[in-house]
Amino acid sequence: MNPITAESITMSDLQIISVSLGNRSYDIEAGSENLEHIGSFLTAFKPISAAVILTDENIVQQGYAHRVAESIAETGIDVHLLSIASGEQSKSIETTATLWETLLEEGIDRKSVLISVGGGVIGDLGGFVAATYARGIRFFQVPTTLLAQVDSSVGGKVGINLPNAKNMVGAFLQPLGVLIDTKILQTLPETQYQSGLGEVVKYGASLDAGLFQLLETNTEKINIRDPNILKQIVTDCCRIKANIVAEDEFETTGRRVLLNYGHTFAHAFEIQSNFTLLHGLAVSIGSICAAKLAVRMGFVNEIFLKRQIGLQQALGLPTEIPEGIDWLQTIELMRHDKKSEFGKLCFVLPTGIGSCRLVDNIDSQLLEHGL
Ligand SMILES: NC(=O)c1ccc[n+]([C@@H]2O[C@H](COP(=O)([O-])OP(=O)(O)OC[C@H]3O[C@@H](n4cnc5c(N)ncnc54)[C@H](O)[C@@H]3O)[C@@H](O)[C@H]2O)c1
Ligand SMILES: [Zn+2]
Repeated sequence: MNPITAESITMSDLQIISVSLGNRSYDIEAGSENLEHIGSFLTAFKPISAAVILTDENIVQQGYAHRVAESIAETGIDVHLLSIASGEQSKSIETTATLWETLLEEGIDRKSVLISVGGGVIGDLGGFVAATYARGIRFFQVPTTLLAQVDSSVGGKVGINLPNAKNMVGAFLQPLGVLIDTKILQTLPETQYQSGLGEVVKYGASLDAGLFQLLETNTEKINIRDPNILKQIVTDCCRIKANIVAEDEFETTGRRVLLNYGHTFAHAFEIQSNFTLLHGLAVSIGSICAAKLAVRMGFVNEIFLKRQIGLQQALGLPTEIPEGIDWLQTIELMRHDKKSEFGKLCFVLPTGIGSCRLVDNIDSQLLEHGL
C-alpha cells in the first residue's frame, strides 16, 4: 500500500494539502471566503449524477448550506439538500436508516456524491452513510467547526454511535476532497470554537514545536478569529494529522495513538460530566494533567508545563479540573481506557515541546494522591 504523505503548497491565497494515498489520494483546500469554490472543486470529479448535501439546521440558518448548493448547481449538477437536527443525538442508527431511505427515494445512485457540510457530527454521519449506501458512494467534506476542520475531517474515520457506545459502528472512508473556509468559523458559538482550539494546542504541544510557537505569538489574532491566521493554523494541523495517519491509516501500528495527548484523562472527564463538557475542553484539561504527570516522571521540566498553561490561559482554555469530577473515579475510568492493558494505565506523554511518546504500564498508585 502506498503511504500517505501530506505536504502543503500555497496557491494564491489558498493552501492545498495533498494527501497522497495511492488511488485514494485527495486534496484539502484551506482558505478564507472560498466556500463558493466548492462547485469548481467538484467539477473535476464529473460525471456526477447528483450531489446530496447533508447538513444541520444551524448551517442552513447561517446560509452556508445554500451557498454550497448554489455553487454546485451552477456547474449543472443536480443538487439535493438534506438538513437534520444538530447535535450528537443525530449520529444514530435511526437517523442513518432514515437517510438511507431518503437517498433511495430521491434516486441517488453510485455516480452520486454525498457532501457533508457541518461539524464532526455531520462529517461522521455523512461519511458513514456514504460508506454504506449502495455499498459505497463518493464522499466530500466541508467542515464548518474548528474541531472538524483540524481533526474529524482528516483521517478517514466515519461512524455513528450505539445508544451506550460512542463511535462504535463505522468505517474508514477517505473523501474525494475537503474544502475548508475559515471565515465561516466567525459564527461558531464561543465554547465550540474553544473546543476546537483545545485540539489545536494539543497538536502544537505534542507534535509540532513550530505550530506551538505560532500559537504563542498570535493569541490575540486567534481570539478574534482572524481568518488568515486560522488558515495557517488549520493547514498546519491538517498536515500534522495527515502525516501521522499516513503511517498508520487503519490504526494498526500504534503510530496513530500519538494523536491522543490528553485524551485518556479527557475521556474520563467527559464520561463523568455526562458529556456536558465539550471534547476539546476536556482535552485541554487532560493534556495539562498529562503534562504534570510527565513532569513527575522526568520527561519534561516545569518550563514545559508553564508554557502550555500560559498558552491555554491566553486562549481562554481551561487548565484546572472542573467541579464535580472525582479523582479516584477518574483513575478507575482510565484503567478501562482502550489503550490500557491488565488494568495498568497508559498515556501519551510529552517529551518536549512538539514531541511525545506512548508510556504504558504506569502504576495507578503514582496518581492516587493527585497531580
Ligand atoms: N472522525 C473523526 O476522526 C473524529 C475526530 C474527532 C471528533 N469526531 C466527532 O466529531 C463530533 C463533534 O464534532 P463538532 O465538535 O464539530 O460538533 P458538532 O458537529 O455537533 O457541531 C457543534 C455545533 O456547532 C454548530 N455549527 C457548526 N458549524 C457552525 C458554524 N460555522 N457556525 C455556527 N454554528 C455552527 C452545529 O450545528 C452544532 O450545533 C463528535 O461526534 C465526535 O465523535 C470525529
Ligand atoms: Zn480529540
